[in-house]
Amino acid sequence: MKIRKAVIPAAGLGTRFLPATKSVPKEMIPLVDKPTLQYIVEEAVNAGIEDILIITGRTKRAVEDHFDKSYELETELEKSGKLEYLKAMQDISDMANIQYVRQKEAKGLGHAIYCAKSFAENEPFAVLLGDDVVDAEKPCLGQMIERFNEHQATILGVQTVSDEDTSKYGIVKGNKIGDRMYHVDDMVEKPAPGTAPSNVAVLGRYIITPEIFRCLEETKPGAGGEIQLTDALRILAKKEDVLAYDFIGRRYDVGSKQGYLEATVDFALKRPDLREEFLQYLKKIVAAG
Ligand code: UTP
Repeated sequence: MKIRKAVIPAAGLGTRFLPATKSVPKEMIPLVDKPTLQYIVEEAVNAGIEDILIITGRTKRAVEDHFDKSYELETELEKSGKLEYLKAMQDISDMANIQYVRQKEAKGLGHAIYCAKSFAENEPFAVLLGDDVVDAEKPCLGQMIERFNEHQATILGVQTVSDEDTSKYGIVKGNKIGDRMYHVDDMVEKPAPGTAPSNVAVLGRYIITPEIFRCLEETKPGAGGEIQLTDALRILAKKEDVLAYDFIGRRYDVGSKQGYLEATVDFALKRPDLREEFLQYLKKIVAAG
């Protein structure tokens, strides 16, 4: 089956980024001049996705406004001859067929994914977390869809992390079955230091079969009363094959301050219009210690 649909959960509270996230959705905080969420929508579109469902919540209205048409702004840009900006604005609203559903309470990532049950219509679908940006030559999701086409099974996007970092992620227990591919036997969410079954961490990209919705119905609330996607994926791994793919690309957790700052610097340095002046500035502050 072809992957046509993607779900982007963006209903989290963003507590690590308060006070900014009190009224601004963390997914709308820009990396240079583009909101994080736009990078993620572009990745999905470049991977061939046709329909996108963004899971939002209260205080997230800016997300819908961003991907909508802005007649007033477009008219002003046209009048003032700023045609480059005009085109950029039109491209955003034409990018994809985007729908929204509200998760009424932030009861966890698993609960957010369950809000996509009727959108998925019993098809396998992609999930891109709203605060994980992957900079890659070939879109990370496109790499994963290729693997899905070969295996027709759930695929988790993973990368190897250091021992100190295993306690921050869902960690895979399984076997390597081929080039960059693993078979997942089990998973542990944020294992205590020194107890991780491997260093293979799930990092914000998934392709999931619709059986996950039945697994989510069986999933009991875990830490903090939240329904964890990892717990539902563990149930899924007992029913059918769950694979993991070690994707090629640099992933940034832009929901953390360090990840956000690293992404901002790296993305600015990739911009031909900013690179030279910004690099000189960075060299100057590094030299000054
Ligand atoms: P995070 O745990 O990174 O997001 O969830 P958070 O809860 O907003 O972050 P902090 O810890 O409070 O700073 C990963 C992704 O899942 C979404 C988030 O929006 C983020 O994109 N999410 C999380 C939901 O959509 N609903 C939830 O109930 C929880």
